[in-house]
Amino acid sequence: MLDFHNHLMPGVDDGAGDIDEARTGLSEFRAQRIECIITTPHLRGSMIDRPREFEGFLDVLDNAWESLKALATAEFPEMRLERGAEVMLDVPRPDLSDARVRLAGTSFVLLEFPFMSIPPHSTLAIRDLARNGWVPVIAHPERYRNIPVNYDLVEDWRDSGACIQVNSGSFIGYYGAGAKAIAWGLLERGCVDYLSSDYHSRGKCAVRDCAKAFERRGAEAQLRALTTTNPERLLRDERPVPVQPLIEGSGSFWRRLLPRFLR
Ligand SMILES: [Fe+2]
Repeated sequence: MLDFHNHLMPGVDDGAGDIDEARTGLSEFRAQRIECIITTPHLRGSMIDRPREFEGFLDVLDNAWESLKALATAEFPEMRLERGAEVMLDVPRPDLSDARVRLAGTSFVLLEFPFMSIPPHSTLAIRDLARNGWVPVIAHPERYRNIPVNYDLVEDWRDSGACIQVNSGSFIGYYGAGAKAIAWGLLERGCVDYLSSDYHSRGKCAVRDCAKAFERRGAEAQLRALTTTNPERLLRDERPVPVQPLIEGSGSFWRRLLPRFLR
């Protein structure tokens, strides 16, 4: 499995505070059978437009990345580690030309909106970025407090070239009942492309418990596509394959038993 949304770089954001917490984060990922990680520290899109400040922050990120890489090489040699960023769209058109702000240097870029609120004209901003050759990956849409219940906006984003990443923890209620309902609702509509942890290097990582929840609902095929097939394609700079909508109740005992009677 691959995880491309997490906060492991030490001392750069609200994730790992130091190298010990980064080690805890990597250990947790190893325990959850994550083999490849793209780590994504927070970055404000508006900062990219202020070159001196941006260069200074990139130096900080470069140093944190070097120490994380050294740790992984020494203590987690079986894991593949790449870097990216979680870019906050606090301006509509950030310059994404520096490979360090994109996921593993591909054309995919992980994006979030400020203040846990979807701004007006979000679709226009996404279309603009896609027109410039980038593939916007919208992080955790299920967590925004103003996400419309009919999911039309998420479909508009996808029609405009975006891909959708839902947090593993959302499927098991880490962010409350509302986010959980939306996460499953998006999956039932086939609107999810990737699953990632958004793990902040402390506390419990939700990946394994989320996988169990998918298995209970008979969603093993979707789980594989979201955690392995599509993230592997992303690393090759290829768009995700469509993930089959989850049929409501497909994991129930009777639905699983029914085909045996019909043989
Ligand atoms: Fe994040």
